Amino acid sequence: MATAVLGLQWGDEGKGKMTHLLAQDADLVVRFNGGPNAGHTVIDRGVKFGTHLIPAGAFYAGATSALAGGMVVDLEILKREIEEIGAHRGETPHVVVAENAHLILPYHRLLEELEGSGSRFGTTRRGISPAYRDKVAHTGVRAGDLLRPSELEQRIGWRLDLLKRVWPESEEMQTMEAKELTRDLLSAAEPVIGSISDVGRLIRRAMDAGQRVLFEGAQGTLLDVDHGTYPYVTSSTTTVGGLATSIGLPVAHPDHCIGVAKAYLTRVGEGPFPTELTDGDGDELRERGGEYGVTTGRPRRCGWLDAVGLRYAVELNGVTELTLTKLDILSGIDEIKVCIAYRLEGKEITDFPPAAPVLDACEPIYESHPGWTEDIQQARSFDDLPEAAKAYVRRVDALCGVKTTRISVGPAPEQTLSC
Ligand code: IMP
Repeated sequence: MATAVLGLQWGDEGKGKMTHLLAQDADLVVRFNGGPNAGHTVIDRGVKFGTHLIPAGAFYAGATSALAGGMVVDLEILKREIEEIGAHRGETPHVVVAENAHLILPYHRLLEELEGSGSRFGTTRRGISPAYRDKVAHTGVRAGDLLRPSELEQRIGWRLDLLKRVWPESEEMQTMEAKELTRDLLSAAEPVIGSISDVGRLIRRAMDAGQRVLFEGAQGTLLDVDHGTYPYVTSSTTTVGGLATSIGLPVAHPDHCIGVAKAYLTRVGEGPFPTELTDGDGDELRERGGEYGVTTGRPRRCGWLDAVGLRYAVELNGVTELTLTKLDILSGIDEIKVCIAYRLEGKEITDFPPAAPVLDACEPIYESHPGWTEDIQQARSFDDLPEAAKAYVRRVDALCGVKTTRISVGPAPEQTLSC
């Protein structure tokens, strides 16, 4: 049985809580895209964690956590997360890393600074895009290279030679040395060096054997490098197709594709956002929802739910069921709006145009819903919700053609309703 959990918006939908819940019944939990740009908030045994790289399986002794080939891995961060979760749980998590996953080096982070992509696109400054760029330019280093240290040092040396010629004015770049970087990588790799392997094969065999495999998406559909709001996107495939290419599967067809969406909408970093609330209402949503980045601490931009984008994400991923998160944050708002179409050059459109300049020119067309005043954080079943909240959820289902089967009304695992 294979289940995927994917974000349907611009990330930060609350996937971390869902994968943490579902991972307790999984044999294998797989991260397949991105790297430490992700920030998953997890409450495990009452302790809050903000994880960036390690799959949610790390919290459960019975599960293997796999980092698949399509990822970019920062070994320092992975080591830290393995140690922290190991200390909390009293047992070192079983983590395997694909030999073809690429490594993030200090010069990747430095390149983001030097090129200004942090301020231009609002990236997370974790070296994600320079690492993916090196991958497709044939100049990357992979986890499997750690098993051949002299070749690794040579490859890093070649890359550094070129970077030093391109950035003569950067003292930090000029002082980087291949020997030192190799030594640091090998030291950070220590907890996983014995498990660097053909993870794609491991996953295919596990699926063939009928094991319970959970695919944990990072970022969100609208940040997908091909199908997102380019150029304001991340550098990986965040949609379901990423499973096939990252792992090496003949087709990306999980038995269950759980799409996670927030009951309103947020975006961190630059890029178009038609339903953004730039006034006090947006600030209020941010404060109520604690909308600050887990990875960067940046305030998130906030706005109303956009059913046009949500329909697009459902269609792209073949979503079979929805999880709606942070419904409790809408309690106490008199009038809740949902964008059902856009006005573009005088015409009404209902299909999402992902290209940034086109989306930027779209004006949202809203429908209004009455709010509710009750605190719903204590609700434990769909029937416990006020009628207005139930009606809002069912309207979202109708607008995107998929049923909501889980609703999150707070950060704790028990604040999750089935419906
Ligand atoms: P990068 O992934 O660091 O290259 O950043 C590219 C864009 O994706 C920026 O707008 C980031 O804020 C956004 N981004 C990357 N990872 C996440 C995430 O996990 N949640 C939300 N936004 C993200």
